[in-house]
Amino acid sequence: MWNFDEEIGREDSDSVKYDLRYEKFGKKDIIPMWIADMDFRTPGFITEKLQERLDHEIYGYFFRSPKYYDSIISWLKTRYDWSVERDHICFSPGTVPAINLCTLTFTRPGESIIVQPPVYYPFFSAVESHGRQLIYNQLREKDGKWTMDIESLSSMITPGTKMIILCNPHNPVGRAWSRDELMELARICIKNRIIILSDEIHCDLTLPGYRHTPFATLSDEIADITVICIAPSKTFNLAGLSTSSVIISNPVLRKYFMHKMDSLHTGNGNIFGSIASTAAYSGGHEWLDALTAYLEGNINYVTDYCRELIPEIIPVRPEATYMLWLDCRKLGMTGKELREFFVNRAGVGMNEGSEFGPGGEGFMRMNVAMPRSRVEKAMQQIEKAVSHIP
Ligand SMILES: Cc1ncc(COP(=O)(O)O)c(C=O)c1O
Repeated sequence: MWNFDEEIGREDSDSVKYDLRYEKFGKKDIIPMWIADMDFRTPGFITEKLQERLDHEIYGYFFRSPKYYDSIISWLKTRYDWSVERDHICFSPGTVPAINLCTLTFTRPGESIIVQPPVYYPFFSAVESHGRQLIYNQLREKDGKWTMDIESLSSMITPGTKMIILCNPHNPVGRAWSRDELMELARICIKNRIIILSDEIHCDLTLPGYRHTPFATLSDEIADITVICIAPSKTFNLAGLSTSSVIISNPVLRKYFMHKMDSLHTGNGNIFGSIASTAAYSGGHEWLDALTAYLEGNINYVTDYCRELIPEIIPVRPEATYMLWLDCRKLGMTGKELREFFVNRAGVGMNEGSEFGPGGEGFMRMNVAMPRSRVEKAMQQIEKAVSHIP
């Protein structure tokens, strides 16, 4: 029913992934497997609603109607059995803006915020660019399995520690954290009165056989110290429409957050983002199930390919996201050499692991959200390049 195999040219569409290849990699003719968006056509149940509104031909000031909020509430209930009240949903033009606003709202200059690298690197600047202290609690890796180091986390908490930014599911290592793992983290946060900012933007991309646990569903007491970011942008490939939500059930935290948002006048959003989000959350279940099955196929393809033909590269099996975290340590190269090797020898543009902070060295992050034929081509190019390493 949905054709994820369709090859659609994205050149000359002001796409960061395609049209800024030269700026990012110094080369245009590479297969771009970096920034987190997908090369799939936006489904008709979204484009038809956008077209309808476009045809109206007046695009003045707008407000988000009850339908917008109801679609989010119904999506979260259906997929995660998470009951969210309409008033608890705050609009944000993006998740990264929301994380920055949380830093400004919930912490003071000089106070510390913990992140768990290797992790989505804008978390770092969301702390440091506002004069807060960035504390790394590095994830642990054993035999390809990545976990949180709860013991070390406990030991680094001081009275100045005010927030932890959690990536749930985790980009780039692909973990859909289990309920037990999240509970352990939550206990520490409750004990030390630390706010958990849980970035759950990738939650809908949890792969078949795995489960996403929204942090706020652990208990009411935990929900009270939790701020959760979600968005339709990764799920339905709508990142260019700048529409996301921050869910805060604690009325005091929510009041301060909204006050900050209002004082900066950043809460308007855009009418097309609102329409696309409503359409996506209202009609997207079947499409999303088909998408995650297709992504799983791409992940299996790369994993099998590496096992059979490029044993020097070991993909970490993701439980969520369309990102594959490739363990390239057997290639024996530095981060800079790896990046240079994949761009100039293999013709594939990926994110180099150390971009994600400590623990990322020797890894590459590969975005497989593209037609299988492109993934196949990339793997053939990588295989050829590896076979030529002296
Ligand atoms: C964990 C995570 N958070 C946030 C974002 C970006 O969010 P936004 O575009 O809504 O700012 C990304 C994009 O890759 C991401 O991986």
